[in-house]
Parts: sequence; structure tokens; C-alpha cells
Amino acid sequence: MKIDVCAGNACKAKGSEQVMEQLRALIDENDLDAAVSMKDVGCMTNCGKAVCVTIDGNLYSVSPETAGLFFKDHVMGRAIG
Ligand code: FES
Repeated sequence: MKIDVCAGNACKAKGSEQVMEQLRALIDENDLDAAVSMKDVGCMTNCGKAVCVTIDGNLYSVSPETAGLFFKDHVMGRAIG
């Protein structure tokens, strides 16, 4: 699974760094390092959806408040099995 977190200005202003930190911590806690590769990328040209996160190319709008739920719903389920 490949996760890209937008680090462009609009997404940064909405907390992309916190989203990335939270996801990184959750990936570590759940031993998903081998299954998930995450990196930050430049503006995805979807600034209205900031913070933009893609999983294998599918775009999601995430915030520091929803990062935990996003992880549970979209990363945990898919990364295992
Ligand atoms: S800054 Fe994230 S989509 Fe533009």
C-alpha cells in the first residue's frame, strides 16, 4: 500500500504535518511498516480538499481530527491480508 500525504501550502495550513505524524505513529504501533510506504508529496492540485491524502491513487480529505478514523477505516482494513 502506498500513501501520499500532500505537503503543499494549503494542506500544510490545514495540518498535513500533524496528519503525517499521526499516520506514521499508527503505522508503527500496528507493525505495518512493511505493508505501508508513506511519503509527502507536492501540491496535488486539490487544495479545496486539504489535507489531501491518497492511498494507491485514491484521494481522501483528512484532517488532524479525522486521521485516526481514516487510518482505521482505510489503512488497517486494507493493509492486513
Ligand atoms: S496544497 Fe495540497 S492539494 Fe494543493
